[in-house]
Amino acid sequence: MPFQVGDRILTGRNEYGSAVLAYLQLAQRTGAEVVVVPNDESGQIDVAALADLIDERTKLIGLTWVPTAGGLVNPAAEVGRLARAADVLYLLDATQAVGQFPIDVSTVGCDMLTGTGRKFLRGPRGTGFLYAGPRALDRLDPFVAEIRSATWDGGRSFTWADGARRLETWENSYVNVVGLGAAVRQALDIGLDPIGRRSAALGARLRTGLAEIDGVTVHDLGRERCAIVTARVAGVPTAEVADALARRAINVSTTIAEHNQFDTEVRDVHPLVRLSPHYYNTEAEIDQAIDAVAAVAGHHR
Ligand SMILES: Cc1ncc(COP(=O)(O)O)c(C=O)c1O
Repeated sequence: MPFQVGDRILTGRNEYGSAVLAYLQLAQRTGAEVVVVPNDESGQIDVAALADLIDERTKLIGLTWVPTAGGLVNPAAEVGRLARAADVLYLLDATQAVGQFPIDVSTVGCDMLTGTGRKFLRGPRGTGFLYAGPRALDRLDPFVAEIRSATWDGGRSFTWADGARRLETWENSYVNVVGLGAAVRQALDIGLDPIGRRSAALGARLRTGLAEIDGVTVHDLGRERCAIVTARVAGVPTAEVADALARRAINVSTTIAEHNQFDTEVRDVHPLVRLSPHYYNTEAEIDQAIDAVAAVAGHHR
């Protein structure tokens, strides 16, 4: 996107580190400004504050639908309505959303949506995709002209390819693209509605179970929550909790303060243990995970 001095990117407090780093680099290069929209009292993006911040300087709203660390599902469609009304481009990071629950870009009202293969879609690592709608295609300046993204008309002129293909490159890891396609097809065959219901229910069971353990606190944000559950055990370093779970063949991850600087500015909770069940997990496995965390908490006491 072309940016000029004084243009603004409005973004959320719970963005992914790489997205923020890209905005900061852009700000350094162009003189654009990165403005963090506060969260409301529930921990989701404050939609009223966003509405107040949008003005003629705003060129992009960049939001993470489901942040890496916090259980939160941001109100992506409410943000989409504001972006439409103000005619501002809206980039939605759906990396942790795609494959976890149904997604419809027309309902959400985003102009660009990014997804990855390697998370809830259960596809190959190193794959991902971008949706770019008509408003985006009108305004984006594609990064590189080459034989897939453009046609050499002859002599000294070229024409961008139609649609989002102008953002693609000729060469790809086709074996991975086939793998990504298989993952997408499997998710669609199983159905994103049942997948969404089941993963949210397993997340809620886990969240409730963990919150009931003495010495364990759950740190998920927002009104609507998903299958990502974050917690800590009082007095036990998070890395030790993760190791103890790994010894019981329960694979978890941990959040990293430096990757969540905007969040860290307002709540000093990281690192947290991050558990993310999916539809194929059983209720018994969720209960085993709760018992395992309880054992770590109990062991400490
Ligand atoms: C919210 C969010 N956006 C983007 C990414 C980056 O995903 P990838 O490295 O697969 O592109 C992640 C990965 O953790 C993420 O959680």
